[in-house]
Amino acid sequence: MRRWDAVHLSIIVPTYNEAPNVAELVRRVTAAIEGIEAEIVFVDDSTDDTPDEIRAVAASASLPVRLVHRSSGTRGLGTAVVEGLALAESDVCVVIDGDLQHPPELIPVLYRRFLDGDADVVVASRYAGGGTATGLADRTRIMVSRAATALTRAMFPIRLRDVSDPMTGFFLVDRRAVDAAHLRPRGFKILLEILARKNLRVAEVPFDFADRHAGESKASMRQGLHFVAQLTALRFGKMSLFAVIGALGAVVNLAIVWALTQLGVDYIVAAIVAAETTIIGNFLLMERFVFHDMRAAASGGWMRFAKSFGFNNAEALIRIPIMALLVETWHISAVLATGLTLVVAFVVRFVFHSLVVYAPRKAGADTTRARRFVEELDAQAMSPGEL
Ligand code: GDD
Ligand code: MN
Repeated sequence: MRRWDAVHLSIIVPTYNEAPNVAELVRRVTAAIEGIEAEIVFVDDSTDDTPDEIRAVAASASLPVRLVHRSSGTRGLGTAVVEGLALAESDVCVVIDGDLQHPPELIPVLYRRFLDGDADVVVASRYAGGGTATGLADRTRIMVSRAATALTRAMFPIRLRDVSDPMTGFFLVDRRAVDAAHLRPRGFKILLEILARKNLRVAEVPFDFADRHAGESKASMRQGLHFVAQLTALRFGKMSLFAVIGALGAVVNLAIVWALTQLGVDYIVAAIVAAETTIIGNFLLMERFVFHDMRAAASGGWMRFAKSFGFNNAEALIRIPIMALLVETWHISAVLATGLTLVVAFVVRFVFHSLVVYAPRKAGADTTRARRFVEELDAQAMSPGEL
């Protein structure tokens, strides 16, 4: 009997109706990882006889082969991978498809690259030098894949700067580097979820995406929609909540300015009253909805309020004279001037709150200040929101 704690590498295989591929996959993995203490963990959602096939193959396999068959109803490649990561014996995990489109012979290459010690994730890339995506079903899928990859990289220029193929389903990950609690796996793109949530050190190894050994692809229009939802949530999570609250505040602000000026109040006085009211309202909403996950590590509540209130008043102090200037020189309405200045203020306010008001009490000293600033801003803008 092998000792479990001797497992140095866990190979996670999500499967959905892959019965004809199981034996060949285990055979090729076994041959490929010669000399590495590894286990295979199948996370299976099949409705066919795949689980029986896995049990049969496991019985005669020369390495530990485990099966998690999830109760009917639980489905999804992304959640299967996350479950596999949690159950793996080793912290070092390779995720590989069960249909042999990913060559098992690359597993030791990924593993050796990881042992170099400078990466938390080693991506098997179709788009790095030497890799190919010819196994994609047709021209349309190749184009869609290319376009989606380009868009995704453009949306996460910092996190994905070293990643040519964030959509691949073949990668090695050191699970200690991942915040499993923050992952919101949906759809197929679990690697993107892992890479977009946190700054990780990424290395790449090129590979040829092959044709399926047997069976058919489970990719669908539905997976495409999942992907769009995932991108939106990843990219605009926290910032969009901040924007919603800011927009709400702006509407209230405008309404107060309008109501008070209608009542004959001087527009500057009206603007001040409106600003103070919305500053306090916004702060309370932000505490509850936007930065709730950062309160524990940040300075105390009154301190945060003082910083936020101080910033917003300073901002209003600058904004109101600018607004007055706009009204006096451009002869635009007070409402329009308020609206314009509020838009500019929004961006500055988000930056300030993310990086100053809710900054963790102490920061690491291993990166330069400028770099840390940009990464932190990036992290805040995209971290998951709650509504
Ligand atoms: N457990 C589980 N549950 N596994 C699933 C599910 C599910 O709901 N859906 C699919 N799988 C498994 C399949 O059995 C296969 O082993 C693997 O996930 C990939 O599914 P395919 O149906 O072969 O998808 P694909 O070849 O179209 O997509 C591949 O390429 C994409 C890049 O173009 C995958 O590698 C994707 O992860 C990758 O994004
Ligand atoms: Mn496939």
